[in-house]
Amino acid sequence: MSERTLVLIKPDGVKRGLIGDVIARIERKGLKVVAMDLRTLDAETAKAHYAEHTERPFFGELVEFITSAPLVALVVEGPRAIEAFRQLAGATDPVKANTGTIRGDHALEIGENVVHGSDSPESAAREIKIFFPDRF
Ligand code: PPS
Repeated sequence: MSERTLVLIKPDGVKRGLIGDVIARIERKGLKVVAMDLRTLDAETAKAHYAEHTERPFFGELVEFITSAPLVALVVEGPRAIEAFRQLAGATDPVKANTGTIRGDHALEIGENVVHGSDSPESAAREIKIFFPDRF
């Protein structure tokens, strides 16, 4: 059974020229990109996207970083796409992420960890609606 997930290539990933690398890994795995957009987020959209983290001490940093430069938003589809992409991304802390994962290969800092992937079907539905309100 196919499902969809929202993937962000965050501003650090775009700045460092990693768009192609991330998409290649997604496609090599057998997942399909079904929507894609390069844009700079406004604070309101960023706060909506990270709403579940409002109370966390790093919330301000999170919003500041994700709005600081263009990102790429993708809708990725395939069997167990949510879990499959989170495996490709690796652990949130890039130093703990396995080599061979996006974060394990490309990042060192938890705040600049190249990609975001939805963590549940509910989050995926909510996040896809925020980024692509008219598409799905
Ligand atoms: S996760 O992936 O939701 O289980 O990870 P979580 O630990 O809950 O983190 C949620 C997002 O917050 C980012 N994060 C941080 N940013 C800055 N500073 C600190 N200390 C920090 N800790 C976590 C983390 O990269 C997650 O971002 P997204 O975009 O959801 O991957």
